[in-house]
Amino acid sequence: MGFLGKLQGAERLFTFDDVYIVPGRAPLDPSKVDVSTRFSRRVRLLIPISSSPMDTVTEYEMAVAMSLMGGIGVIHRNMPREQQAEIASRVKSAPPVPTSRIYVAPEDDCDKAYDYLRSLGLRDAPVVSQDGKLVGHVRVSSLRGCGGGRVAQVMEAPRPFEVRRLEEALSFLESGGSDTLPLVAAGSYVGTLTFDSSLDRVTPSLDSEGRLLVAAAVSPFDLERARLLDKYVDALVTDVAHFHNDEAMAAAKAMGREVSADLVVGNVGTREAAVDALTIVERVDGLRVGIAGGSICTTSSVGGAYAPALWAVAAVRDALDEHGASDIPVIADGGIRSSGDIVKALAAGASSVMLGYMLAGTDEASAPLIRIGEAAYKPYRGMASKGAMQRRFAVDRYTRASKRVAEGVEGVVPYRGSVMSVLADLVEGVKAGLGYAGASNIRELWERARFGVAVPKQVPGELFRTGQ
Ligand code: XMP
Repeated sequence: MGFLGKLQGAERLFTFDDVYIVPGRAPLDPSKVDVSTRFSRRVRLLIPISSSPMDTVTEYEMAVAMSLMGGIGVIHRNMPREQQAEIASRVKSAPPVPTSRIYVAPEDDCDKAYDYLRSLGLRDAPVVSQDGKLVGHVRVSSLRGCGGGRVAQVMEAPRPFEVRRLEEALSFLESGGSDTLPLVAAGSYVGTLTFDSSLDRVTPSLDSEGRLLVAAAVSPFDLERARLLDKYVDALVTDVAHFHNDEAMAAAKAMGREVSADLVVGNVGTREAAVDALTIVERVDGLRVGIAGGSICTTSSVGGAYAPALWAVAAVRDALDEHGASDIPVIADGGIRSSGDIVKALAAGASSVMLGYMLAGTDEASAPLIRIGEAAYKPYRGMASKGAMQRRFAVDRYTRASKRVAEGVEGVVPYRGSVMSVLADLVEGVKAGLGYAGASNIRELWERARFGVAVPKQVPGELFRTGQ
């Protein structure tokens, strides 16, 4: 084919903004829609959402919150392998209910502790030392009587509840025996259960032993890291911008033979990449799909390459179906900015989506809160940005520098509060979207969804936004 022919035969790389879902006949009320799915071959989720392995997004708190809400967090690898494994192991021993950090310190002033607990409407609280050990329990009534003294003088014996005795702890709270109960794991305080935690039960995604789910990112070339993480995680996720590379695929093949956790590979962006990954890697338990579509990506301007998640997911799903590999879940990764985008990704054949930008502004995201004037923000940066790459080389001497050019940017995103409420809103939107598409679950969505292109192209709501 001549060059002109190549240009004229250019593929149409649909992005989330290019298409809509055509409404269909809904079999039931959106509130009854089932959004459960699989992240990878053996990892089941209650909501189709994972958090990106990025150093401004997923560490301990995000991973715990993601699993509590029915999804999964993928811990980033911009840290020494021992630290990443330690975070994964802590997620595995975290209580599968929301806990708070409500406690007082033994050296706290009684009056201050009294005011704090009264402001929360609590009658008692655990006492935790600076090194994270549970050292006592204190009642508001005792604090009131000790004016001028310290908490240590009036506290009682601690009331530790092991995480594995969670049901017992919840019943004790519900019986009114106490307003707060501290949970401990491996001798350390891990959080406080309050009456709210027992009432406000979430539906976590759990492993076969009732522990929270967690995944971790690895370079396919870092077998040592994968071996270490394999003891704790449900899935290992390769973190390569362009997995369709002979060396990366060969390395992942070796990794697949060594680890027992599910192995999710990517990122891939085309049907050819999916077929090669299946053929060469041997064990593929999930595919991470989408290249250069992320909010912080500059790959399309640095290298000119682009496989937006929506188009890539559809291409990869077709390839999997044609190769008898329909059971391999596809994860749509990059460029998702709304629940509507999630519905479109699922409708194009994804089993779940991976989010960076949408979760980066939450409390649980791993970057610190910053204030600029009156407004609050959280930093968010690409993992191939200059800053993130510098950090990777500083903390991990095993990392391979395959490219010397940055393909991501660094910035801030508006602060958005708790990830739990962000996820709850997204899930409601996704359920509504499945309802509009005429589906009661994700499998039905794959069968029934119809895409439409608005002609002439007009973004609904635009008129309002431009109106003065
Ligand atoms: P969103 O749009 O959710 O995208 O913020 C997150 C995804 O973007 C990918 N990623 C990068 N891509 N340069 C890139 O080209 C980067 O520096 C970079 N960092 C992350 C990654 O797939 C992530 O899940």
